[in-house]
Amino acid sequence: MSITDKQKPIGVFDSGIGGLTVVKRLASTLPNENIIYFGDTARVPYGSKSNSTVIEYSIQNTKFLLQKNIKALVVACNTASSIAIPDLKKIFDIPIIGMIEPGSRMALSKTHNKKIGVIGTRATTSNLAYSKEIKRLNDKVEVFEKPCPLFVPLAEEGWIKHRATYEIAEEYLKELREEEIDTLVLGCTHYPILTEVIQKVIGPKVSLIDSGVASSELIKLELEKFNLLSDSGTIGSQEYYVSDIPAKFKEVAELFLGRGIEHVHKVDLEVLISEH
Ligand code: DGL
Repeated sequence: MSITDKQKPIGVFDSGIGGLTVVKRLASTLPNENIIYFGDTARVPYGSKSNSTVIEYSIQNTKFLLQKNIKALVVACNTASSIAIPDLKKIFDIPIIGMIEPGSRMALSKTHNKKIGVIGTRATTSNLAYSKEIKRLNDKVEVFEKPCPLFVPLAEEGWIKHRATYEIAEEYLKELREEEIDTLVLGCTHYPILTEVIQKVIGPKVSLIDSGVASSELIKLELEKFNLLSDSGTIGSQEYYVSDIPAKFKEVAELFLGRGIEHVHKVDLEVLISEH
């Protein structure tokens, strides 16, 4: 019996555990979808790598997921979304959804004073991915971007409410507080893991934009457009693959998702690189 396109899984990748913030939302917006997740934990962080390296890794990750017979790809990494999407769309003939456009649209729908802050990796902020997209959609808005590279290892480490996380957040978010932004884009999928700390430090009046929340509606619309929404009527499954230390991924993933996850598979990096 052949599997119809609608019943195929959605592929999701990130440099590590950050993309789980997208999976969490996706699983509640589209509960019937099967998801195959790849976290490139051997090569995290992407945010301090060059554009050409991020493109190369993104192509390898997509080829790996295509071997799992995916029907659509979600680039659950703002860094890869801001750099690699045009190349991925040129090479691969499946729907590909990134994080920048949905996050920008949601930020514009929330802001009242037209002052939006964006925090992300060095790569995302130095490419000005959000500033360009937000201004393309509305040029009357001011955008303030700030790299927060230490948030990624803190999230990977599971230091969700640690004192050190507060201190680092105070240092990073000081300038954005002074700019009196009313909306802050968490422009890295790792950052929603640290939401509690970020919200406390930036203040309760600032709306936080989570890539997962912002993108899940768009993913649904894209699947609808291509007639690819699952019609199985059963609850979808999630399968996890990482390129290093599955046990650590499992531990932090369970802490963040608040539930147990089954086996996390290890993908040999040598194989990932040589086969693709
Ligand atoms: N989670 C990723 C992002 O959304 C990347 C973090 C990193 O690998 O530096 O940008």
